[in-house]
Amino acid sequence: MAAAKTLPGAIKLVILRPLYSYTPELNNIEQAAHLVPWKESALQGCFGPSYRVVGLFIQDILAGFYIVHDIAGEQTLMNIAIHPDYQGQGFGSELLGDLLTRASRWHEGQLILAAPVYLEVRESNISAIRLYERYGFKKLGARANYYPLPNTTDMETGLVYGRAIE
Ligand SMILES: CC(C)(COP(=O)(O)OP(=O)(O)OC[C@H]1O[C@@H](n2cnc3c(N)ncnc32)[C@H](O)[C@@H]1OP(=O)(O)O)[C@@H](O)C(=O)NCCC(=O)NCCS
Repeated sequence: MAAAKTLPGAIKLVILRPLYSYTPELNNIEQAAHLVPWKESALQGCFGPSYRVVGLFIQDILAGFYIVHDIAGEQTLMNIAIHPDYQGQGFGSELLGDLLTRASRWHEGQLILAAPVYLEVRESNISAIRLYERYGFKKLGARANYYPLPNTTDMETGLVYGRAIE
């Protein structure tokens, strides 16, 4: 990976673009960001039909990504992560905005959501829940004992969120 270029002032070049093949930087972000990260093989398995992986680059450093499973007219957000070094600066919002834009179409001069989007989130993941609610996701239900917790056999409840088509 090339070193970040310095631009004048505090301007940072942020680019979001689809990733068509696996890169180990995805796993670095996954391991650093998540409480119980996916195995590398799970990330590698998301480069196939009906998946979309989008990376967020700051300068030319991969700082975050999301993975969507796009099937039967529905989009499920499988994973979203920003490397901890870059969290809290609006980059997670950029990713979520990109996801919703790509799931939208133009109608009478307005961009409207054209496919329902679903996701699951740990009930303790307050910052992610706030982010989803800011983007219009509504809580649809809960799945008890859904997520593993580190260093215990206890499991955590997963909340199901969705955004309906407009
Ligand atoms: C969830 C996650 C992707 C959000 O990414 P992020 O880049 O931190 O998100 P944002 O910066 O857009 O928003 C997060 C917070 O930063 C704040 N923020 C946004 N822009 C900001 C800026 N320019 N400066 C400072 N703070 C800012 C937001 O208000 C928000 O605050 P809040 O959580 O108190 O409401 C990230 O925290 C992450 O990777 N977490 C670990 C993995 C994870 O839990 N994924 C979700 C699984 S369902």
